[in-house]
Amino acid sequence: MVYVTRKAHFSAAHRLFNPAFTDEQNEAIFDKCNNLHGHGHNYTIEVTVAGNPDPQTGYVIDLKKLSELIEEVILAKVDHKHLNFDVPELEGIIPTAENIALVFWSLLEPHITEGKLQKVRVTESDNNFAEYFG
Ligand code: NI
Repeated sequence: MVYVTRKAHFSAAHRLFNPAFTDEQNEAIFDKCNNLHGHGHNYTIEVTVAGNPDPQTGYVIDLKKLSELIEEVILAKVDHKHLNFDVPELEGIIPTAENIALVFWSLLEPHITEGKLQKVRVTESDNNFAEYFG
């Protein structure tokens, strides 16, 4: 089994809060990401597909096609958007890197026809990322 990964970048705003919490609790738990009108991150998404190289092409999946798929099903929805308001798939979901990874998996998975989706990693800042393995 070979794992191949395609990386992509997007910028988006979000606000982390739970309406069931008090303002003080939200502030304490979500800190800067609780900013009332949201704030921005430069996100990186890494999509890993597992499989055996096709004997004809040597590819597990054509990474150009994977790149186009990420563009169509993810970036077109989220790049330069406010994740709390502009992305129907994230409605009612606290847009942490963890939850974004889960939603991105569900958007991508039905379209992966060569190999098998293995991992979605969402990096929110230099030191923080979340990974979902399905
Ligand atoms: Ni944030």
